[in-house]
This record gives sequence, structure tokens and C-alpha cells, in this order.
Amino acid sequence: MSLSRAVLAGFATLTFLSCGGGNTIKVGLVVPLTGDIKTFGESTRNGVMLAIDEANAGGGVNGKKIEVIATDDKNDPTETGNAGSKLLDMDRVVAIIGSVSSKCSLPLSDKCQSAKIPMITPTSTNPKVTVGEDGKRKDYIFRACFIDPFQGTVGAKFAYDSLKAKTAAVMYDVGNDYSKGLADYFKAAFEKDGGKVTSFESYAKDDVDFSALLTKIKQFSPDVLFIPDYYNKVGLIARQARQLGVKAVFLGGDGWDSPEMAKIAGDAIYGGYFTNHYSPDDPRPEVQEWVKKYQTKYGQKPDALATLGYDAALLLIQALKNAPNAKPDEIKAALGAIKDFPCVSGKITFDEWGNPIKSAAVLEYTKDGQKYVTTINP
Ligand code: PHE
Repeated sequence: MSLSRAVLAGFATLTFLSCGGGNTIKVGLVVPLTGDIKTFGESTRNGVMLAIDEANAGGGVNGKKIEVIATDDKNDPTETGNAGSKLLDMDRVVAIIGSVSSKCSLPLSDKCQSAKIPMITPTSTNPKVTVGEDGKRKDYIFRACFIDPFQGTVGAKFAYDSLKAKTAAVMYDVGNDYSKGLADYFKAAFEKDGGKVTSFESYAKDDVDFSALLTKIKQFSPDVLFIPDYYNKVGLIARQARQLGVKAVFLGGDGWDSPEMAKIAGDAIYGGYFTNHYSPDDPRPEVQEWVKKYQTKYGQKPDALATLGYDAALLLIQALKNAPNAKPDEIKAALGAIKDFPCVSGKITFDEWGNPIKSAAVLEYTKDGQKYVTTINP
């Protein structure tokens, strides 16, 4: 086994395992390894590769090693489309794991669906990743995570029931399917609970100065400020909000999970809560074993992305075991048949939309790092 690197067609392509000949099962990986959310891509890749390396060390699947061809989508939907075309048309992979952000998984899922190649997104939570504009299930597409209608409801319930919030302001990125979707789901759920949304404000992807929006929001003194975006934006917003004297408790979603968050936000993020897919403090033995294994290999605790990357790869490996010819249609059927499969983030059975039903963890940023608060079940 040798580690080979190839640069093809203008993409940085890393082939992590090359066994020579045609005796491997080729799988594509699409993640952001550069750009604004690169810690997400690195963690996801680390988790995926740990599972694949374990499978290959144990002899592979049905006598064949798994070869992962990784591409960088830079968290850009156009780049994602190009990466998908390369994997499907040139490398002829039999399945794809990816992408990370919903706005990239959306075009990738359309491509995989028309090519009839199964895709598992580890982390994209927007419902439309597995459902087309026509309302029909994209039946080649699956995910390892819960979806945002659930995540938004959990956030709203936590605000209303645990934080006793009666009013909330919401700020979201209008060009990010994840951010906009989660903002909408939170608002609907919070209002249903009896809460009042005092401001519902959007900004654009490249905005860095949020003072006008925050000044508007401050007038209503909301109990919480819900910021469903990724760590880089949330860090800036949190910092500027405190500078302007916004007193609200900050609340957000899985996009907050990054070792970079506290570096960007500083102490403004302390006391902020977010919903996530798992907590490394969960005492379940599966979780503790995973945390230890990951820490030994990569020198840090696995975040949710690493964990979901590992889980997505476990799901694919399990499906490959039940697809002796490793043909895309067989793999798709084997994925659909998975029931109560033990993953680190919980037991996975897909519903009719390719979504697992799982619980969510609520975590708090403190000066000592992330702290587990509670688990909320569907
Ligand atoms: N759920 C996010 C999205 O759909 C991606 C994400 C998952 C980010 C987990 C961080 C942690 O875009």
C-alpha cells in the first residue's frame, strides 16, 4: 500500500490509498479543504479516513481494498459541481461521501442522482439535499445527520423551555441554504411555542460589518440572538454584538462547531449555546472508544464533523459488504436496507427520505471549551 498523490484536471486530488490494478473499490470524497470553513473539511476527511483505514487494515471489503479519491470543493457550489463531474466521469467512483455544507451538497446530490451513483453526506442538514424541487425523494442520496427542521425545533425549545426566553432575534446569511433554512425553522418553532421574534435580519456572504443590523436588533432587547451560520461568521457577529452592547444570549446550530470559534469570537462566545450532533463527553462506550481512538491518531478530540465523517464511512462500508459486485445500484439498495446500525452518533435507520432519526446534543462555549448541556430526542 502506498500513499500516492495526483493533481488532475486542475483539481488538487489526493488519492489516499493506491493498491494498483483494478482491484480496488473507488469511492469519492468531496469536502472543503481550503476556503472559509476548512476545519469542517479537515475534520470530516480525518473521520472518513479513519474508518476506511480500519476497513482496509482488516482486509478490505469482499476481498477488495477501498480507494478514496478526495477532492476539495472550497465550500463553493460551482467547485463542488466540477469535483463531482471529475469523480463521476473520470474516476468512475461507485459512491461519493460529501459534501459538508448544504449549499455544496445540493448541486452534488443532483449530479449523483442523475448519474445514479449513491451519495452520503455526513453533515448537510438541509432537507432539500435528499428531496428534489418537485418534492420527490432523490433515491440515491442519504445522510448520516439529522435535518434542520428538527435542529431548529430543538434550538427553539431549548431557548423557550431552558433559557426561559420570550423574545428572540435572528440573523442569517441569505445566500447559504443551511443558514436561511435553519433561521426559518427556528422562527416557526419559537413562535409556535409562544415566543416572539423581534427581528429577522439577513446579510450577504461577504459581509464583515454587522453594526447596522446589530444596532437595529439591540433596540428590542431580545432575550436570545439566534445566529445559524458557520463559526467564521458567528465569531465576527458575536464579537461585534458584545462591542455594541447587545446583551442577548447567543444561540446557534452545528455550524458553530470548530476549534477556530473561540479564536475568532474571543470571550464574546462564552455563555453561547448551540445544537450539535454529538458530544465527546457522552459516556456511551461507543463514544468514549471513538474519542480515544481519534485522539491517539490526530492529537485532538473529534468534533461533530469528524464523528459524522466516520459514521458516514461506516455506513458505506456496511453497504459495500452487502453489495458483492460493488455496483452503484446494489450499494444504493444495501444502504436503504440498513436498520439500527450502530454508529458513534447514534443508531441509524433511514426514514423514507434517506434521513436518520437521531437525537441532538446542546453544548455551551465556556472559557474551558465546549461543555455538554443536555440531549434532546426527536
Ligand atoms: N449542517 C451544516 C450544513 O448543512 C454543516 C455542518 C455540520 C457544520 C456539522 C458543522 C457541523 O451546511
